[in-house]
Amino acid sequence: MEKTLPLQEQPCPARPASKPRNAIVGVLFPLAVAAYFLFPSSLPQIPFRSSDVSSQAPKCAQPAALFPRDSGDELSRAYDHVSTESFRNGTIARLSGAVRIPTESFDNMGAIGEDKRWDIMYDFAEYLKNTFPRIHKDLKTETVNTHGLVYTWEGSDSSLKPTLLMAHQDVVPVPDATKDAWTHPPFDGVYDGSYVWGRGASDCKNQLIAIMETVELLLDAGYKPKRTIVLSFGFDEEISGRQGAGHLAPFLFDRYGTNGIAAAVDEGATFETAWGQLFAKPGVGEKGYTDVSVIVRMPGGHSSIPSDHTSIGVASELIRAIEAEQYPAHLTDDNPYLGQLYCGAEHAPEFPKKLSKLLGSRAKSSSMCPASKKKPDYLALEAAKQGPAVKYLMQTSQAVDVITGGVKVNALPERTEVVVNHRINVGETPETAFSHLTSLAKPLAKKYNLTLHAFDGTAEAPMSISLSKSPNTLAVAPVTPTDVDIVSPYAVLAGTVRAVYGEDVVVAPGIMTGNTDTRYYWNVTKHIFRFGPGYDSQLDDGLGNIHTVDEKVSVTNHVNAVRWFMLFVRNMDEAVLEE
Ligand SMILES: *[C@@H]1O[C@H](CO)[C@@H](O)[C@H](O)[C@H]1NC(C)=O
Ligand SMILES: *[C@@H]1O[C@H](CO)[C@@H](O)[C@H](O)[C@H]1NC(C)=O
Ligand SMILES: *[C@@H]1O[C@H](CO)[C@@H](O)[C@H](O)[C@H]1NC(C)=O
Ligand SMILES: [Zn+2]
Repeated sequence: MEKTLPLQEQPCPARPASKPRNAIVGVLFPLAVAAYFLFPSSLPQIPFRSSDVSSQAPKCAQPAALFPRDSGDELSRAYDHVSTESFRNGTIARLSGAVRIPTESFDNMGAIGEDKRWDIMYDFAEYLKNTFPRIHKDLKTETVNTHGLVYTWEGSDSSLKPTLLMAHQDVVPVPDATKDAWTHPPFDGVYDGSYVWGRGASDCKNQLIAIMETVELLLDAGYKPKRTIVLSFGFDEEISGRQGAGHLAPFLFDRYGTNGIAAAVDEGATFETAWGQLFAKPGVGEKGYTDVSVIVRMPGGHSSIPSDHTSIGVASELIRAIEAEQYPAHLTDDNPYLGQLYCGAEHAPEFPKKLSKLLGSRAKSSSMCPASKKKPDYLALEAAKQGPAVKYLMQTSQAVDVITGGVKVNALPERTEVVVNHRINVGETPETAFSHLTSLAKPLAKKYNLTLHAFDGTAEAPMSISLSKSPNTLAVAPVTPTDVDIVSPYAVLAGTVRAVYGEDVVVAPGIMTGNTDTRYYWNVTKHIFRFGPGYDSQLDDGLGNIHTVDEKVSVTNHVNAVRWFMLFVRNMDEAVLEE
């Protein structure tokens, strides 16, 4: 714990050469994938797969638009119905109704059953029951930890792993002080001709309702899935999901086993135009998380006869040391942002030349060790110039966010606490931050004759500097495979995006700087996608003001999400997945 500084040179991990993502050049590639989907049995293996790949082969091949093969009249009609005004009107009403139920989850929620604020979730479950009667009649409906909702549509082939669709029922609370700032009241679900407004409209009752619409429509059309479809809706995602996803994931783990689910889609990243190109960016990774608390305890006393340094002064010295040194920007081979850069280089007209060159040399040198101090990761450093939102896809963030110390002007502060928030970069661990902070605190403890308790279980003690991690510390999520040279869930997802939005959209691996309910599902499936599949080319409003005033969703975006889910479920059903 004491000797590995994040900025020190670390040995390059002896990983096997990364698997070639694809083996033939652009044009043939989507054809091969399409052929594979169309004739899975006649093409047991894509023939080019095992051949050698040169460093110049494309790394961001795009699967062709993928439509379900088996489209009976009823299913085609159901799909076409989604684009009608009558469906649009209906789903506006159903989404607005969902927004009107204020399912706020508060940071200080008490136990379920005791804290009455949870009870609003009963209303929401009742609302779903009345609004989607067919689902409640035909599917197995279970509740987990009172308000977690699981719907199971049993497929005809139990040897196929289920498709899991997720969303959360709760929303971020609307503080009283901000209610007046809303254009339309946050829980009225107003439709203004383009948008549905309100808290939860885009985070993420839109996703939940889109999933329900999809299943209801497929049931109405007489669809018979081979692959089981599972819906899992948590109810406290906005306060870390412990009660909801924290119980739902183990429930599904018990039922289906380790990696017993083929793929999971939850809320997450969406569409974005970058370098002159529209990208869909399903989140295939999530940064890690830790808050470190630093407590400095020193003698009190009257401030007329002070010591030269108080606990506030020592804590300040530590803060200064923390801020003097940022974590390095670096891109490991499995960081999804590296994939995005390749996609930009290969598909975006305005991709910067300099980045393109750096990528080229990176692709050529297989033995690079980007994390090393002696050899900075020039690619990451150059890419980071695009701004903090990009930089922190490749760098552990640190922010001193909380400080408390001192109670009185004439008393020396006996205790000062500082909390440092971190989001851990792919390729690092929370321990990277722990050892870094330990190395900064150590000389200070020595200088001021204090005992150092570094992550040793002592939260605080007199005459000491104590470092401890928060209970919600989370490792970096395993990265979902993004192979498109085999029939992978990612290839199915990407093909479905291009089926709904056309082949001008490029699908690139996304990475989340925040965490979703999927943090509890790592053992349930290797194929987790944090993805909002709705997009409206006319009203491209990004994330729709989530977590702030005037949250809203474009109805076209929402309807497109339904179209996407309808195709995705059926494409997954037909895919003969290779892992
Ligand atoms: C949809 O709603 C609009 C506005 O309320 C209405 O004018 C229109 O007739 C409705 N269309 C259908 C097909 O129900
Ligand atoms: C450091 O503290 C110890 C007791 O905690 C004390 O015995 C010692 O004299 C102190 N040394 C200095 C240099 O203040
Ligand atoms: C999930 O996997 C992790 C690490 O592989 C393990 O520590 C944990 O116990 C597993 N959880 C379950 C529910 O099996
Ligand atoms: Zn959310």
